[in-house]
Amino acid sequence: MPSLNVIGAGQVGQPLARLLAEKLHLDIHCVLNRSIESAQRACDFIGAGKPIDSFTALSPADYTLITTPDYALQRTAEILAKSQKIKKNMIFFQCSGSIPSSALHEIKNKGALIASFHPIKSFVDTQRSLNTFEGTYCALEGDQKACKILEGWAIKLGANPFYIQTDKKLIYHSSLVFACNYLISLAEIAFLSLEEAGVSRDISKSLLQPFMENTLTQLFEKDTAKALSGPIARGEIDVVQSEINVLTIWRPNFATLYKSLGEIALTLAEKKGSLTTQDAHRLKQILGA
Ligand SMILES: NC(=O)c1ccc[n+]([C@@H]2O[C@H](COP(=O)([O-])OP(=O)(O)OC[C@H]3O[C@@H](n4cnc5c(N)ncnc54)[C@H](OP(=O)(O)O)[C@@H]3O)[C@@H](O)[C@H]2O)c1
Repeated sequence: MPSLNVIGAGQVGQPLARLLAEKLHLDIHCVLNRSIESAQRACDFIGAGKPIDSFTALSPADYTLITTPDYALQRTAEILAKSQKIKKNMIFFQCSGSIPSSALHEIKNKGALIASFHPIKSFVDTQRSLNTFEGTYCALEGDQKACKILEGWAIKLGANPFYIQTDKKLIYHSSLVFACNYLISLAEIAFLSLEEAGVSRDISKSLLQPFMENTLTQLFEKDTAKALSGPIARGEIDVVQSEINVLTIWRPNFATLYKSLGEIALTLAEKKGSLTTQDAHRLKQILGA
């Protein structure tokens, strides 16, 4: 039975290790956290493993899952590289969304394989994460052999693995920031603008929910260009110019954003074929594209 060490068994490490133990029958070896109490709690949740709180107590395993916070990944790799416990063909993998597998390069220099396995999921409750892991999309990058093994594991766990480029990891992560976090920022701009127009937050929520949900449905059913509506798609030059003017006075930062997002909308409107060449040219000038 292949063995697995877990370094940093927290919100992600605990459910992932338990799934790997229960469904893939990996032998959980050492579970290293900063305190022995925390390591013991992690072992209790995983249902296996020897709790430890120092790297000197770590005994080697075939696989090592490193789920310390992102800021500790490189340091962890450095400590492991100096430990003389790394052997050729061992596999070390981390789960960061923004830090590439190459953060573990000190480990790779010692002959082991490295990879990153990023589950696109919010892990806030270990039991819930365990129950809902199936179907999670997991981004893989790193050494090919290691990725192939992790891909197989993900499939066996009912997840959806896919590959990204190591040197584009931050661009990959920024896509998630746009799609998730900045969607909230855009909604907040809509709330503030409605409030300025005299609409209460409660009514704004009620009216924006079906409006935004319908947009998302259209987006995923039809793709971006076909789902685009509004003044830029219709070539309403005067409306776009007037809204930029009014936002520049009320909230200049919203005007800047309106123009930047408008540039993207304009590209989509051109792709959709809903603008005349003249309107597209005029809109480009207004938006500063
Ligand atoms: N949380 C999410 O939603 C999520 C989603 C996808 C990916 N990720 C990624 O998953 C990784 C882990 O995140 P997490 O949310 O699971 O973190 P977490 O809940 O804060 O757990 C981190 C664990 O690492 C241990 N630790 C901290 N510093 C350490 C060190 N220097 N050496 C050894 N152990 C150390 C902590 O031990 P103590 O308990 O003793 O302090 C803790 O158990 C990160 O790379 C993160 O980007 C997180």
